[in-house]
Amino acid sequence: MPNIRKCSLAVLNYYKSLGIESHIQNKPRVRFEDYFYTKNQKKLLLEDKLKELKKKIINLDCKLKLKAKNFVFYDGFLRSDIMIIGEAPGYEEDKLGKPFVGAAGKKLDQMINAIGLDRKNNTYITNIIPWRPPNNRTPTDNEINFFLPYVEEHISIIKPKILLLFGNVASKSLLKLKDGITKNHGKWFNYKNPFLKKKIFTTCIFHPSYLLRSPNKKKIAWENLKKVKEKIKSLQIKT
Ligand code: URA
Repeated sequence: MPNIRKCSLAVLNYYKSLGIESHIQNKPRVRFEDYFYTKNQKKLLLEDKLKELKKKIINLDCKLKLKAKNFVFYDGFLRSDIMIIGEAPGYEEDKLGKPFVGAAGKKLDQMINAIGLDRKNNTYITNIIPWRPPNNRTPTDNEINFFLPYVEEHISIIKPKILLLFGNVASKSLLKLKDGITKNHGKWFNYKNPFLKKKIFTTCIFHPSYLLRSPNKKKIAWENLKKVKEKIKSLQIKT
């Protein structure tokens, strides 16, 4: 554990060396939150950050929200080391305001349960797009790019150790891939974005809706999920 006093002094001396003598902010800034807070306090901090992000997104000027019934933000365990990102809410998700609760959600649960993961204890789930695109159409590039910075911030709030991108939209947009998921499923990437200090082990997996339409691809998805299980073990992540 680092010496908090020494670290704080080093930061202050650094500011002093730049000629900065005073610093005014609306809220106190906690630089060592990993060390200062108890688990409960960390959960409250997380909830605050998520509330702020939710407020920011809800206030965006976006046509999708005019047609959708509900804003779909996240589901799962807040302090998860595993974060799942899908595409966009469908009919059931729009109705309930939760990601992956329809047929694709049931399939997703089956897939993650098979490797010891579930949304109650160890997995956090969100989507690239928070409002259902009309008639479940694929989101446009403009819509994806519009929400991408908010997804990046979302990832930096949860700070998972492993990121699982389900389907083409999440995989291509976050990893800036030229080729789609057919070429990249099962590979490991070091994901980084401007909000993150550390890279995150990231992989792409076929979307559960695709597997419902093409059951012959289940075997490949299972091989990819086994690799996730191995990674969880090698990183000594508790599930
Ligand atoms: N498909 C997704 O990508 N996300 C959902 O929440 C539901 C279906």
